Amino acid sequence: MSPEELQSAGAFAEATAREAGVVLMQHHRSVPQGEVRLKGVRDPVTDADLASERLIVSRLRERYPETAIFAEEETRETAAGLTWYVDPLDGTVNFSQSHPFFAVSIALYHDARPLVGVVHAPALDETFTAEAGGGTRFNGAPAAVSDKRALIDAVLATGFAYGRQDYDDDNVARFADMVLRVRGLRRAGSAALDLAYTAVGRLDGYWEPHLNSFDVAAGALLVREAGGVVTDLDGGDTWLDGRSILAAGPGLHAVMQATLAAAAVGIRRKGQA
Ligand code: IPD
Ligand code: CA
Ligand code: CA
Repeated sequence: MSPEELQSAGAFAEATAREAGVVLMQHHRSVPQGEVRLKGVRDPVTDADLASERLIVSRLRERYPETAIFAEEETRETAAGLTWYVDPLDGTVNFSQSHPFFAVSIALYHDARPLVGVVHAPALDETFTAEAGGGTRFNGAPAAVSDKRALIDAVLATGFAYGRQDYDDDNVARFADMVLRVRGLRRAGSAALDLAYTAVGRLDGYWEPHLNSFDVAAGALLVREAGGVVTDLDGGDTWLDGRSILAAGPGLHAVMQATLAAAAVGIRRKGQA
């Protein structure tokens, strides 16, 4: 992709995320509670998730008919080369409670290489954008990860998968260990926004197991382009499809990884007992 094509894809993804945000806010104001259905014991989907995804998919299809789209609810295409990753509403539990911490997440990848990432939080009027090599922007202004180096100074975030009752690794032991070491630890309910907040230094780091590519694809590029480090929980590079992610500023990533890995040894032993 040429620099012009990259910029044009970034602008189009942002415009599409904003349009989807308008759709979400229309549903948000019109009694979301009645629309909530469950995909699992606590995994909600609303009409807003579907309306947002249909809008995004139709816009991307029209402009980029050759590009695969891997979205959460209805459109799961895989192909070599270019792919759009779409979470039409990240933070559905928050949305269904009228809690404003939710977002639209759209990313463009070439295989495992991030090209474009947009996270747009319509109820907060906050938009985070990045194109590969161009830095991260928060509501249009350049943004950077925090430079913290010590856990005791850090405010981190994490999350817990909907199916946690079925996992040996429910992330509770990591949480219990880390909460005693840091200034603050948040579970705010949107992986895409947790990553975006890490990119702009509102959070100093974030980790979560059991995620999907559409949860993290955009946010991971935001963190990287803001000078941060993104790996999986083992320090490897499988964060897009490997289901776990660890993102932080360069001063904190290594200590977070070592601390979480030590806590995870306990988790696995507990799971095997
Ligand atoms: C969820 C959110 C949440 C995370 C879950 C995700 P959804 O996505 O990102 O913060 O902890 O693992 O599944 O269902 O609201 O799109
Ligand atoms: Ca999600
Ligand atoms: Ca979602």
